[in-house]
Amino acid sequence: LLHQQISLPLVNWFDTHQRKLPWREEYSPYSVWISEIMLQQTQVDRVIPYYLRWMQRFPTLESVSIASYEELLRLWEGMGYYSRVKFIHKTSKIILNQFGGQFPENLDELLKLPGIGPYTAGAIMSIAFNQNYPLVDGNVIRILARIFNIENSVEHRETKNFIWKKAEELILPGRARWLNQALMELGALICTPKSPVCQGCPVQKPCLSFHLGCTEQRPVVQPS
Ligand code: ADE
Repeated sequence: LLHQQISLPLVNWFDTHQRKLPWREEYSPYSVWISEIMLQQTQVDRVIPYYLRWMQRFPTLESVSIASYEELLRLWEGMGYYSRVKFIHKTSKIILNQFGGQFPENLDELLKLPGIGPYTAGAIMSIAFNQNYPLVDGNVIRILARIFNIENSVEHRETKNFIWKKAEELILPGRARWLNQALMELGALICTPKSPVCQGCPVQKPCLSFHLGCTEQRPVVQPS
């Protein structure tokens, strides 16, 4: 039922409505890793030119690992959160030296790499390898809080666990790459923090908050 009413409409909508973005041209672990790390703390519009410059200068993991830290930093200059660059450099060397240049296709191995947390590991597993792993970021929290009308604070551990469980249930086997990106794209284009565009939403029908008229009050954010 979840798949019929939510997941399928979402991936079909993504198929026809997704923005053309440079990191959607190919889904290699390397390009997913770089783009998702850039996108975690920087807006899509600002990331695009940095991502294009980066991929032009460093088309492969190996090119990153043999570059100087200073050069990586220069290409990152202006995006902030510069510790990300240090982690990218370290991780590129580890993958080259310990994994023969191939990203491990394994969540636990990915999580051991510098600068790769649950979000980035999940992104590499699902978006690059198209493995059935959920992905939860601010967009996904907001969308699921609205669809399921979650009235408890999303800061609470139990609420977070509930959201991860729902994100997991939503995965269509073999289509995690598209489902997870569809959620993020819906959050960017339709299910926005303020004034969501419910008229154009592919999951308006199953959305409890829409029918109750309380989309703007979701998610509830209140630290315990
Ligand atoms: N934000 C985080 N990851 C993203 C992606 N792959 N596409 C668009 N926005 C994102």
